[in-house]
Amino acid sequence: MNVLIVHESMFGNTHEIASAIADGLRQGRSPGDGDVRLVHVDDAPTVIPDDVDLLLVGGPTHALGMSRPKTREDATTKGATPAREGVREWIQAVTPRPGLPVVTFDTRVHVKMLPGSAASAAAKALRHHGFDRAERGETFWVEGTPGPVEAGELERAHAWGAELASRVSHGVA
Ligand SMILES: Cc1cc2nc3c(=O)[nH]c(=O)nc-3n(C[C@H](O)[C@H](O)[C@H](O)COP(=O)(O)O)c2cc1C
Repeated sequence: MNVLIVHESMFGNTHEIASAIADGLRQGRSPGDGDVRLVHVDDAPTVIPDDVDLLLVGGPTHALGMSRPKTREDATTKGATPAREGVREWIQAVTPRPGLPVVTFDTRVHVKMLPGSAASAAAKALRHHGFDRAERGETFWVEGTPGPVEAGELERAHAWGAELASRVSHGVA
C-alpha cells in the first residue's frame, strides 16, 4: 500500500495533523507493505506516481473553503510562513487519475455556526478535475487562526490514518 499525502499548512497545524495521519497509516498497514509519503503542496508531484494506491489531500480552511492568494497573504500578515501555492492551485495543476481513491481533510477553528470546509471544497474540486473517487474525509479542529491543534485531535488524526490503512488493505478505499 503506497499512500501519498499532499498538504498545505501556513501556521503548521495542518502539517502536525498530516504527520499524525501518516503515522497512523504506517501503523495500520501490514509490516513492510509499501510507503507513506507526506509532501507539502509546493513540493508535490503534478503526476501521481503509478504505484500510489491512495491519495490524501489536506489543507487549512480559509474564508469558508480552500485558501486563495489573498487569504494566504492575510495569513502571512498574521505571522504565518509565506506559501507559494495551496491545495486549490495544486488540484488545478495535477494530472487527474480516474479510479484512484482520494480522501480529503482539513483544519478549521471550532466556532459554532461557521460553515465551510476546505475538505469539502477540495473533494468537490478534485471530482470536477477528474478524480472521480474523491471523497470528503475528516475535519480537525484548531483553537484559533494560528492554532494550536485542539487537545485530542492529533490522537484522532492518528486513529483515522490507521482506519484508512485498514480500509485500503481490505480494498474498500
Ligand atoms: C485568512 C484566513 C481565513 C480563515 N477562514 C476560516 C474560515 O472560514 N473558517 C474556519 O473555520 N477557519 C478559518 N481560518 C482559520 C484557519 O482554518 C486556521 O488558521 C488553520 O486551520 C490553521 O492551519 P495551518 O496551521 O495549517 O495553516 C482562517 C484563517 C485565515 C488566516
